[in-house]
Amino acid sequence: MNLGAEFPLDKDLLYLNHAAVGVWPKRTAEAVKAFADENMHRGAAGYLEWLKVERELRGRLKRLINADSVDDIALSKNTSEALSLIAYGLDWQAGDNIVTSNQEFPSNRIVWESLKERGVELRLADISVDDPEAAMLALCDEKTRLLSVSSVQYGTGLRMDLNRLGQFCHDQNVLFCVDAIQSLGAIEFDAQACHADFVVADGHKWMLGPEGLAVFYSRPEAREKLKLSQFGWHMVERAGEFDAEDWTPAKSARRFEPGSPNMLGIYALNASLSLFEEIGMDVVEKAILDNAQQLIDWVDSKVELELISPSEKGRFAGIVTFRKHGLNRDGHAELYRNLMAEGVICANRSGGIRFSPHFYSDMSGFEVRLRPILD
Ligand SMILES: Cc1ncc(COP(=O)(O)O)c(C=O)c1O
Repeated sequence: MNLGAEFPLDKDLLYLNHAAVGVWPKRTAEAVKAFADENMHRGAAGYLEWLKVERELRGRLKRLINADSVDDIALSKNTSEALSLIAYGLDWQAGDNIVTSNQEFPSNRIVWESLKERGVELRLADISVDDPEAAMLALCDEKTRLLSVSSVQYGTGLRMDLNRLGQFCHDQNVLFCVDAIQSLGAIEFDAQACHADFVVADGHKWMLGPEGLAVFYSRPEAREKLKLSQFGWHMVERAGEFDAEDWTPAKSARRFEPGSPNMLGIYALNASLSLFEEIGMDVVEKAILDNAQQLIDWVDSKVELELISPSEKGRFAGIVTFRKHGLNRDGHAELYRNLMAEGVICANRSGGIRFSPHFYSDMSGFEVRLRPILD
């Protein structure tokens, strides 16, 4: 595959920001343009074709996370919405607790905190330690109903050992919820191997899709535990039988999709994921780890800089965050603005600078582009 043709990104940019919002491949932009033209010229005359694309996307998502069935895949608006469906679907008892970490993106904290009024306690494990999984498991007790964690932490880039956490949850009858937005499209993921009950992730980061279309995986037994809070024609078992007066929720995860799908987003994400299938997630993962390693080595080689991200193999994915000695938060915010002004697209996270190259990123000569950091 000619990667340059798939990613005709402007040459003035060094795009190191896939942990925030990714870049669309050419095929995705073309799919959206073609869909717009089709709508303009033919309306929804080809709706049956659209449904085929929707089914294709569900199949790709199933394979991407190694779900057992497409029936376990729902399409949500975003990660936060899917997490909210879980939080407000479970039947909490006062005294129950939820365990998460102190490095989570707000989406994976606020929603659980909001359950306080139902008497649910949120426990935040300090995972800035040698054994982050042990820190999380140590907070679990007989009242723990759910453990929720990001597969890769958005700020530090710390990659969690999901199999270890999931095995514990499986053995202890604790629900296991994974925010996989910093993994899917970057590194290989296996929902079944890690015993995930729920996996949530919007498509706009490493999956290189648009904002506003997320995968929401639920294991069938876990799905049954969620009381529904959104209803409509699309979430019933016999969707499309508009004259039927009786209805039951779909057995599949479609029960979480009350109405018309985000078809434009579906066309886009389906195109993006076709690229990953052509290339292979093993190849993508290797290239991402190589790119991250290059940045880690660069940071490590500069006395002015301090690496925030882990550098141990298996403990990082695509995120490399660092700080510059002698700079406070404001200083890093200014450094971030300067980098952006120079076309180095990055983020200001964890009080430092976060880089997140993708597999296709052309890292040749990156040291020259990053030299202003050292000034
Ligand atoms: C770990 C993590 N979860 C969730 C999100 C975003 O959630 P949503 O899809 O609801 O916008 C981000 C975005 O930065 C994130 O890093």
